[in-house]
Amino acid sequence: MQINVITLFPEMFTAITECGITSKAAEQGLIELNYFNPREFTTDKHRTVDDKPYGGGPGMLMKTQPLVAAIKAARRGLRARGTNLEAKVAYLSPQGRVLDQAGVLELASRDSMILVCGRYQGIDQRVIDQEVDEEWSVGNFVLSGGELAAMTLIDAVTRLQSGAVGDKDSVSQDSFSNGLLHWPEYTKPKVFNNQYVPSVLLSGDHKAIREWRLEQSLITTRTKRPELISKKGLDQKKH
Ligand SMILES: C[S@@+](CC[C@H](N)C(=O)[O-])C[C@H]1O[C@@H](n2cnc3c(N)ncnc32)[C@H](O)[C@@H]1O
Repeated sequence: MQINVITLFPEMFTAITECGITSKAAEQGLIELNYFNPREFTTDKHRTVDDKPYGGGPGMLMKTQPLVAAIKAARRGLRARGTNLEAKVAYLSPQGRVLDQAGVLELASRDSMILVCGRYQGIDQRVIDQEVDEEWSVGNFVLSGGELAAMTLIDAVTRLQSGAVGDKDSVSQDSFSNGLLHWPEYTKPKVFNNQYVPSVLLSGDHKAIREWRLEQSLITTRTKRPELISKKGLDQKKH
């Protein structure tokens, strides 16, 4: 998957390109990250990327010209590499569709994407109207910039690329993949601060373990995220 990131801070992305599963996926060529820094596309000697909002008010906005030039360069780059001409431009925004596992699945099936990271008070509405196909939020709170949101999206999407996670069962058993939260897990030692590992996990009885895990998944989901149970329709089946 070709991932093109429009960002004033490409160096932040070393957090995912130098650590863990995303770093290995990049090494294996499962994901390819390219950065387009609007500052490189400025035309004035001060390389200005922000300006005051019309109408007054606090803060600054990202200027239209360098941002649009960076997006166009990302599109050209994709064309030059012969990949999907229709790569969607996604703006990371607190106003966007809130990312969940269904959204991650949708994004993971694409072969390319262009992610726009805002800074300051965000970006000019005309850039959204003219260049952006979709907006994605990582939650109902406000970050200082789109980079952490983009990295979150990239990490989640990378986990779903075939071969990215060593044991593919661990992805299919993750929370949300079947609409439920994951069951509680235990590792050595068998006793920790007087608390024992549930005996069924030591029994070697795989059928009993499967049943216990499903039951625990339901209990965990009902306790921590009851709305997921309603969404799955399991609350009706119970009565
Ligand atoms: C300080 S925020 C701007 C917030 C904007 N003034 C608003 O109230 O909608 C700067 C940038 O951070 C990113 N950002 C902030 N919160 C986000 C979230 N929850 N999800 C995705 N991106 C977010 C966006 O790219 C945004 O342009």
